[in-house]
Amino acid sequence: MTDTIPVLDLAPLRANEPGALETLGAQLRHAFTEIGFYFVKGHGVPQSLLDATFAEAARFHAQPLESKTAMKIDEHNIGYMPMRGATARYNLVGDTPVLPNVNEAVFFKRELPADHVDVLAKARFRGRNRWPALPGFREQILATCDAFERLALSLLPIYARALDRPADYFARFFVDPMYTLRMSHYPQQSPTAPNNEFGIAPHLDTSFMTILAQNRIPGLSLRLPDGRWIDAPAPEGALLVNGGMMLRRWTDGRFLATPHRVINRSGQERYAIPFFFDCNYRAVMTPITSDGGAGKEPPFTYAEFMTTYQQANFHHAQVDGKKLELQGA
Ligand SMILES: [Fe+2]
Repeated sequence: MTDTIPVLDLAPLRANEPGALETLGAQLRHAFTEIGFYFVKGHGVPQSLLDATFAEAARFHAQPLESKTAMKIDEHNIGYMPMRGATARYNLVGDTPVLPNVNEAVFFKRELPADHVDVLAKARFRGRNRWPALPGFREQILATCDAFERLALSLLPIYARALDRPADYFARFFVDPMYTLRMSHYPQQSPTAPNNEFGIAPHLDTSFMTILAQNRIPGLSLRLPDGRWIDAPAPEGALLVNGGMMLRRWTDGRFLATPHRVINRSGQERYAIPFFFDCNYRAVMTPITSDGGAGKEPPFTYAEFMTTYQQANFHHAQVDGKKLELQGA
């Protein structure tokens, strides 16, 4: 099925070959207007780093439950979210009610010092990471985030050209960009589980860009624009990239946000390490329209968007200090 999902080779761009950026821009525009996903190869992220990150995900989730719940997820969306701790609602694809997701996950963001202005101000989504007592874990995760951030930043000129903007268009929005590394554990689901129980229900990501390392254990499915669900292909050495709701809104609906889901009937434990990449916390995303005119929706920031989303989806989301009661949760 790799013929349906474009593969963008970054090697010519990384080698500064003439015309490479224009070629990739055209490929990306096609990917996001027709398909909604693309692979990158020649990306420079070593497989050894990805393997080590998967191994840390397994090591984290193998800890006793008390160790994990000791770093329970907070209002910044940092920390451990227990099994069935979220239900797709705001970003649910389709109108069939679904059960809470059968996965547990831990989230990390950019490492901020205790005296960072946003930490001192208790700015939402700008909290400090909390780390498990696992030697070497923190160092590996920080190295992983650095590598994904470098890759994501290197892709921005391609997005700019795909939108007919100058190559450096996004640079000012992505100074000190937001990111989240999610390390998920999908346990084996019972073959007799109800058909509205998913590892993660059909959904759209919130992100501007999601980078997903290939998984040796199947379970991820993607929905193509014609409505067909396909098992995610896994070309050797490539990373899967998709756009979420922030990309769609920022591009005034021109770029697709792409539905996907996970069902783990592999008979094995499954881990995933998606990296969600977004603009600066204070950047105002004004819709990038084809004619430069006003967009369909007003300008917005990361925090405005995420607050709405989180209140709908995550059971830990709080409103005025009170746990939000979610229908059916
Ligand atoms: Fe997702």
